Amino acid sequence: MALFRALVSAPAKQRLNPIVSVFVRNESTNLKDVLAKKIPIEQDNVKNFRKEFGSTKIGEVTVEMAYGGMRGIKGLVCETSVLDPDEGIRFRGYSIPECQKLLPRAPGGNEPLPEGLFWLLVTGDIPTEAQVKSISKEWANRADLPAHVVTMLNNFPSNLHPMSQFSAAVTALNSESKFARAYAEGVHKTKYWETVYEDAMDLIAKLPPVAATIYRNLYRNGSPIPPIKKDKDWSWNFTTMLGYNDEKFIDLMRLYLTIHSDHEGGNVSAHATHLVGSALSDPYLSFSAGLNGLAGPLHGLANQEVLVLVFLTKVAKEIGLNASEEQLKEFIWKELKSGRVVPGYGHAVLRKTDPRYTCQREFALKHLPDDPMFKLVSTIYKVVPPVLLETGKVKNPWPNVDAHSGVLLQYYGMKEMNYYTVLFGVSRALGVMAGLIWDRALGLPIERPKSMSTEGLIKLVKKKRPAFTISTKYPQSILYQRFPDLHLPSWLTSTPLPDTKKNNIWHTASL
Ligand SMILES: CC(C)(COP(=O)(O)OP(=O)(O)OC[C@H]1O[C@@H](n2cnc3c(N)ncnc32)[C@H](O)[C@@H]1OP(=O)(O)O)[C@@H](O)C(=O)NCCC(=O)NCCS
Repeated sequence: MALFRALVSAPAKQRLNPIVSVFVRNESTNLKDVLAKKIPIEQDNVKNFRKEFGSTKIGEVTVEMAYGGMRGIKGLVCETSVLDPDEGIRFRGYSIPECQKLLPRAPGGNEPLPEGLFWLLVTGDIPTEAQVKSISKEWANRADLPAHVVTMLNNFPSNLHPMSQFSAAVTALNSESKFARAYAEGVHKTKYWETVYEDAMDLIAKLPPVAATIYRNLYRNGSPIPPIKKDKDWSWNFTTMLGYNDEKFIDLMRLYLTIHSDHEGGNVSAHATHLVGSALSDPYLSFSAGLNGLAGPLHGLANQEVLVLVFLTKVAKEIGLNASEEQLKEFIWKELKSGRVVPGYGHAVLRKTDPRYTCQREFALKHLPDDPMFKLVSTIYKVVPPVLLETGKVKNPWPNVDAHSGVLLQYYGMKEMNYYTVLFGVSRALGVMAGLIWDRALGLPIERPKSMSTEGLIKLVKKKRPAFTISTKYPQSILYQRFPDLHLPSWLTSTPLPDTKKNNIWHTASL
């Protein structure tokens, strides 16, 4: 899809050399029509690429990667965004500051509309204002919830985590799936994307009322959500459904919903949605799988954000909100020495400050520069990276997205930390639904990587090594006592040498 990007405005660094250079700019405000024109071109592009380079090697897989969460294996295609370790995320080649500059805004608002980001993710084009307005309108028109989902939400016990409620409601929404219906009626596979598109649009439209109902049931005594305003944007409607009317908070929500949308294809929520979708489970089932992954403490924000806020509260309690840099440094060292991490700092892929942190910081500098919690966050930003560097082991001492979002939400009065992952989930739908539409448009098959048993891996590795022979008159344990410097690979030492009958008998082990 790089070919469809508005090449004129794309940053030079990210301009790719598509196999066939095609520039298509479509002013239509109907996203489905725009897509229908792009899909055959991109299908051809991918077909030709696969034909020419299908057998080209793009990496190698080590045993460590197989055990290590497949880190670094290039085994997925994701068109919507790419995560650069130094730069952070780029959506269709555009960085967050570029999106903030180029994507249309709401009247009076300063932040990009997530509708525009969705258009960009789906098409690769920066949309016009009219195109973004048409998406706001479509989502407002598709937002009605089926009665059984409302009943279900209203009957959940209050001790059921908001993410469990969210994912269950999204699963139940699949009663509305147009893709599932079309599939059951035998639709031709070249047309799958059309109903997946319809489901994606319906699903995104219905997320705010689902999420807001959960919020109000849990934290606002079940008060009803106000009716949707069809002339307002998606974030405006969502924030007011939650019960907040502050225009600044609504604008923050536009930013929040934009920046949490996509983080390339290998993260748990994106990968789970793609994987389940590859079985042709409908978009509701696929997305609820993604949400269940997002609810995990190592991926979704709930725990991390709680940690960040709990951490800040602890700092405030122990050394005060106006702690000096020196006091803070001492505090951080104490935490590290107690075997705890500094929450909100570090990342498995990123190696610089997360641009999602930076844009939230800029928002705070503009709108809440004097908030004591924000000031504390700023001092921590000065103090923590050098301390983490000094430990000598942290690969990335810089802040990530979690170091900031909680403080902003708290400032505007949303104090219910357990709910924060639901906000993340609403946003993540934009990225993974755009991805799912393209998965079906490109006819990607069911995902089925090969797995290996440890025994199978050992055999495979042995086969690949030149055979060699060890002759010894010692059993393995004595061999090591005698030759402490002997370095045998761990796969070998895990294979016991044939037991010597008696210590002094020579024997040969061929491995
Ligand atoms: C995000 C995170 C899990 C990445 O982990 P990772 O890929 O293993 O990171 P690294 O390779 O840099 O880790 C190397 C070492 O530095 C430590 N480290 C990394 N970030 C740290 C932090 N913020 N505070 C203290 N120690 C940290 C790791 O625990 C590890 O220590 P170990 O060798 O004793 O096990 C990690 O940075 C972290 O725990 N951060 C704090 C929690 C957080 O903000 N999570 C949200 C992420 S979006």
